[in-house]
Amino acid sequence: MESGSKQVTVRLMVAVGGAVLGSLQFGYNTGVINAPQKVIEEFYNQTWLYRYQEPITPSTLTTLWSLSVAIFSVGGMIGSFSVGLFVNRLGRRNSMLISNALAFVAAILMGFSKIAYSFEMLILGRFIIGLYSGLTTGFVPMYVGEVSPTKLRGALGTFHQLGIVVGILIAQVFGLDVIMGNDSLWPLLLGFTFLPSLMQCIILPFAPESPRFLLINRNEENKAKSVLKKLRGTTDVSSDLQEMKEESRQMMREKKVTIMELFRSPMYRQPILIAIVLQLSQQLSGINAVFYYSTSIFEKSGVQQPVYATIGSGVVNTAFTVVSLFVVERAGRRTLHLVGLAGMGGCAVLMTIALVLLEKMAWMSYISIVAIFGFVAFFEIGPGPIPWFIVAELFSQGPRPAAFAVAGLSNWTSNFLVGMSFQYIEQLCGPYVFIIFTVLLVLFFIFTYFKVPETKGRTFDEIASGFRQGGASQSDKTPDEFHSLGADSQV
Ligand code: GLC
Repeated sequence: MESGSKQVTVRLMVAVGGAVLGSLQFGYNTGVINAPQKVIEEFYNQTWLYRYQEPITPSTLTTLWSLSVAIFSVGGMIGSFSVGLFVNRLGRRNSMLISNALAFVAAILMGFSKIAYSFEMLILGRFIIGLYSGLTTGFVPMYVGEVSPTKLRGALGTFHQLGIVVGILIAQVFGLDVIMGNDSLWPLLLGFTFLPSLMQCIILPFAPESPRFLLINRNEENKAKSVLKKLRGTTDVSSDLQEMKEESRQMMREKKVTIMELFRSPMYRQPILIAIVLQLSQQLSGINAVFYYSTSIFEKSGVQQPVYATIGSGVVNTAFTVVSLFVVERAGRRTLHLVGLAGMGGCAVLMTIALVLLEKMAWMSYISIVAIFGFVAFFEIGPGPIPWFIVAELFSQGPRPAAFAVAGLSNWTSNFLVGMSFQYIEQLCGPYVFIIFTVLLVLFFIFTYFKVPETKGRTFDEIASGFRQGGASQSDKTPDEFHSLGADSQV
């Protein structure tokens, strides 16, 4: 079924733009603690001295700092898993709006921690902004997927990732010591997270509720119709409406889909496995080893100005997300994911060679820069944006919230694992640390090649019915066979 419109209307852009301010928040708080580590550690030390009249021990300081960094992902795990509690009760848009309360509280806690001589406030703030970010990684791709016309779902879905990478880049630049990453301004750097939330609270009221939610969950056909007309910029929205009704009819036939159901029912087992493995492929590719520790990685590979190389990686990251935005509707999700994983694997090998040969050849430091930039570029071609929005594509309205909870939890848990363990593994493996990621990348490539179907240009219902018809044996089909299966199933 053709769902027609490929038009980008003002209403659609307000909806997507307002939503991805949440993604920007997630990115900002991912990147913000990298550069000012030393100055904030000094604050921890001063506070300790003030309270206990003795300097903090190095091991306590390391523990407190690791906690400050990693507690963000713990908040993320809990937040992402709680998505289902909100989206069906409050709606997609209102869930996003209300979650900003968390960001405001977090900004105040972090921004005033210095004046209050309290690192506890900072750590609690990091946890709460983690909760917000976890919710965001469910709310935003779900909402964007549901308001987008089929033909633009991939491109607009990539905007979530674009928001994240722009957030990371802003944080890297603001974190320079000449800007806000210094002794006096770091509270402002952390408290800055207030601003995107304020903007989101101003913009989102002008964005419509998801028409799928209105029609399928609330049974408010007239409202859904009028929202669709505005979003599509046309009065003829019958094909969109018909598609949603079909999805709704399908949902009536299904029982309420719980998380356990996703794993028990043969209809969902295959797509939930794909959703989980794609999230793992995003995080266990090693990307956040770069975004959490790039400055020290560049230092160890002999780069003279590691902070600027870090910002360079943020620029490459953003540029290639834009590239992905333009090619994702042409090349397809599956192809781009495969190209991205293969390219990252190649760059990880190059990085290993550069690190091993560094002792003998000093110019290998340049090869390291090329390898890391390439690694990041290939990531954004596929493994960065695609896993986020493909979850909305693999599931119909009924199981969608539960699927987002499971996918989000997988993503944040593996994010946490890499963030916590990378430095220890690096100590163990030395220059060979990237080989581990190479092996994982090869495994994810094989899985994607054999199991992941193409979802480009197909309606949610076509995709879901492809899985229904294929059932548990879906994996035996090649993507082409899968495609025709889905297309034939149309009513
Ligand atoms: C993805 C990942 C996130 C990572 C970012 C880097 O959004 O989910 O963890 O930091 O890409 O661009």
